[in-house]
Amino acid sequence: MSIRIKGTGSYVPERILTNADLEKMVETNDEWIRTRTGIEERRLASPEQATSDLAEQAARRALDQAGITGADLSAIVCATITPDYVFPSTGCLLQQKLGATNAFSFDLEAACSGLLYSLEVAYSLMKANKKYRYVLVVGAEKLSCIVNWADRNTCVLFGDGAGAVVLENVADDRPDFVIASDLHSDGSYTEILKLPAGGSRNPASPETVAAHQHSIFMAGKDVFKLAVNHMSASCRRVLEEAKVDASAIKLVIPHQANLRIIQSLAQRLDVPEDRVFININRFGNTSAASIGLCLDEAARAGRIQPGDYVLLTAFGGGLTWGAMLIQY
Ligand code: ACO
Repeated sequence: MSIRIKGTGSYVPERILTNADLEKMVETNDEWIRTRTGIEERRLASPEQATSDLAEQAARRALDQAGITGADLSAIVCATITPDYVFPSTGCLLQQKLGATNAFSFDLEAACSGLLYSLEVAYSLMKANKKYRYVLVVGAEKLSCIVNWADRNTCVLFGDGAGAVVLENVADDRPDFVIASDLHSDGSYTEILKLPAGGSRNPASPETVAAHQHSIFMAGKDVFKLAVNHMSASCRRVLEEAKVDASAIKLVIPHQANLRIIQSLAQRLDVPEDRVFININRFGNTSAASIGLCLDEAARAGRIQPGDYVLLTAFGGGLTWGAMLIQY
């Protein structure tokens, strides 16, 4: 048996918010945003769309490509920091939308590393128990609802979207899609990247709303340095473990947080920029959706073919980070 990627899908909402639009909302300008982040525009969900709606669209595309229906799924792992509700899980809401009546479903919260963590969890489940034939992994975010649109330090960075992957336990003797992985977290950095209120530590109140504590707080400079250091170290570890040289990688798919972070990573790995996937200019940082969105776009554009080595790497709140070398 081998565990393979059977289909991918992605979805972004129609509404585009450009840097020029943001210039009218906060004291910023297109030049600052482009040069500091690489972002030109991002997508925003409509008020009627919640995270499970974005997830559904991406999941349907992945299921179509896999040639299966929701009823074929054994499990759904949904990575998000913007669930429709605290409970029930967005995974369960998605299960209902997809008619995935034979699946067990849950959410996984690892911020921007969510899709990477979810792939590892789904892969391990399938490896341990062959009865899980098809598992759906989705990263979906409506970050626009946890952004303070008056804070120029953060509001220019984020966007909404979803990416999905269908995994299959196949009866053949090819290698698994996961060649090597390296995942980490460090809870000592919780203060530099967080959503301060709305949980049991600091429940919602008129005061927390007035203080904008239901939106993302980030110490950008600290996060930047840690992101580059940790992602590059993780990438090196998986390449070493897999005994694969960086030159053999067809495409690096990094979490899209900042173009300068991506460029620094490429430099440290000594991978030319044309082998690094970038769509941050069009979508901004979509947290857990980011890597799934990239993987689907890269596959559909023919930038990766079955058998190619693809290096995924992510970094996010928690802190969480990691890398995964896959064979597409
Ligand atoms: N427009 C204009 N000026 C701005 C803006 C803006 N949108 N935002 C900040 N500035 C100003 C600041 O106020 C500051 O002014 P000052 O020097 O007068 O104080 C100046 O620009 C420089 O600000 P810095 O914070 O030093 O800018 P920096 O070059 O570090 O870029 C950024 C900031 C883009 C946030 C960067 O630090 C970054 O990308 N960090 C990493 C983000 C990340 O990876 N997040 C991932 C996780 S997200 C998650 O998990 C949910």
